[in-house]
Amino acid sequence: MCGIFGCVLKYGNAAPVIHAALKRLEYRGYDSVGEATLHEGRLYMKKDQGKIDEVHKIHDLDDLPGSIGVGHTRWATHGAPLQINAHPHTDCNGQIAVVHNGIIENFSELKRELEERGHVFKSKTDTEVIVHLIEDKIKANPSVSLADAVLETLKRIDGSYAIAVISTREPNKIICARNESPLVLGINENAVYCASDIPAFLPLTNRAVIIEDGELVTLSSDGFEIRKIVDSTLVTRATKLIDWMPEMAVKRGYPHFMLKEIHEEPSCLRNTLRMQEHYLELMSSFLDRAREVFLVACGTSYHACLAASYMFSKLAFLATYPVVASEFVEQHGKSVNIDSTILAVSQSGETADTLAAVECARRRAATVLGLTNVMGSTLTRVSRVYICQQSGPEIGVAATKTFTSQLSVLSQLALRLAKKRGKISQDEMDFLEERLEKLPETVEVIIQKQEGKIKQIAKKYKDAKTFFFLGRGISTATALEGRLKLMEIAYVPAIAFPAGESKHGPISLVEPGFPVVFICPKDETRKTLVGNIMEMKARGASIIAVVEEGDEEIEKLAEDYVEVPKGIPEVLSPIAFVTPLQLLAYYMAVEKGYTPDTPRNLAKSVTVK
Ligand code: G6P
Repeated sequence: MCGIFGCVLKYGNAAPVIHAALKRLEYRGYDSVGEATLHEGRLYMKKDQGKIDEVHKIHDLDDLPGSIGVGHTRWATHGAPLQINAHPHTDCNGQIAVVHNGIIENFSELKRELEERGHVFKSKTDTEVIVHLIEDKIKANPSVSLADAVLETLKRIDGSYAIAVISTREPNKIICARNESPLVLGINENAVYCASDIPAFLPLTNRAVIIEDGELVTLSSDGFEIRKIVDSTLVTRATKLIDWMPEMAVKRGYPHFMLKEIHEEPSCLRNTLRMQEHYLELMSSFLDRAREVFLVACGTSYHACLAASYMFSKLAFLATYPVVASEFVEQHGKSVNIDSTILAVSQSGETADTLAAVECARRRAATVLGLTNVMGSTLTRVSRVYICQQSGPEIGVAATKTFTSQLSVLSQLALRLAKKRGKISQDEMDFLEERLEKLPETVEVIIQKQEGKIKQIAKKYKDAKTFFFLGRGISTATALEGRLKLMEIAYVPAIAFPAGESKHGPISLVEPGFPVVFICPKDETRKTLVGNIMEMKARGASIIAVVEEGDEEIEKLAEDYVEVPKGIPEVLSPIAFVTPLQLLAYYMAVEKGYTPDTPRNLAKSVTVK
């Protein structure tokens, strides 16, 4: 995810300070970098695509005059990772510069409006509307302060942002603000800093001020002033002493990236709800026209495809074929043709098996669609249409936040297709959309209320030799993903399959105390699933159930249970039901003394076949 930084220094040059801070934000992942400073009434700027060291070699990032400035590491969301799209972005006259982390939902409308008023856009980013809007506010009211112009601008913006703005009009100030994207201040006797994250300024000061959503801050050499965007009221906020070690700080205080990333799921889900409509529209048009649709992926992404096949079938009445990418060429290589559509799902966009399947399909003139988390990845380059899920870089090897976000995007695609095909009533559509909107909050509640309990369950079963994961219908995908997580990071052999299959073989393994995890949403499969639980119980299995809150029947049958909030529709259930399983795998690994972020023998992105 993008990182922003800004500093107002009492003495010395800002550029080297910004450069060093951006280096400390590198762990967030990025593809481009840029800085802007103010000096003697002029704005100076350097930016380019590439890593900080490479860009520094070409442009000398330390060679910008002035004691005030902003910097940015960009992780592309709107617009390819090119120099022109790198931040800072400037207004038409090159007097205002902005850096931004987040997504502006209504940027297309705002851009149209600003272009009609004569503003000329240089980039393909959503961010650039911010700086032109500020320029517009100043043009309309030349006596307005920079802070008020930014404040008025933000009232027109829907979406998430952490921004920092500088202008030649008020050359001793930085205006920064936040909504949903992180923003913190750092303070010492000689400077004030603003940043996306504490590590950016940790070697310079351990005194921080956390900025809340809906707040705007003016930084100057006198300190800082916080105001509410909604009504300009002043806010007082105490500084906080940070006692993190730098290594802990990049994990924002979490012991592992995996846990941090599970906790980020609600905000990543919110990002998926901000997708540009026309991408969904375009992709669903291709799916609608296809004679056959293959959903192709590896690992966790394959489980997202499996869940999606239920979504497409149940909502849009479209049959799709989920295929493990490494099998695609063998299984379908000869039959795939111009009438086929391949939806390739890959968090990294670089998985060799997935790309090989895509290449095979492309050679045979099939249509390739892509869903990925990495803009500019190979998958984005070879896809006719792609969607970027905007989860931010995932560092833990085991995919977590990218999985729930993939599911959210795929469910939105299925809904869009259902609407196009007239397969869904308006009432049902409204209901599902409302539930989808609530999912970030639902996942937040699950983490908040159940994490402690899951930790205890992990403690209890830490020495179990094997696990079963069972579900029916779409929960089969959830079961498979729960099992994969446990195997990859806690090294516990585990088996998952549709619960109906248990009596066709695997049940012979069950003996007293054998842990069986059941995924139990209240959908049409529930009644039969209760039968499967009984079968396991009759053979002495220890049942661990993930249930809807207040599902007393299953809670009574289970040794242990974890609850998710009521009323999650079946097609969306994997998004909520998988989070407890990710936490279970995480705490099992921790209990067993393993490092969940870097499991043995596994790589985050597998670029060999
Ligand atoms: C590797 C990772 C998995 C991931 C799979 C597919 O095996 O360890 O966590 O699910 O690759 O990765 P992709 O980037 O294509 O989603």
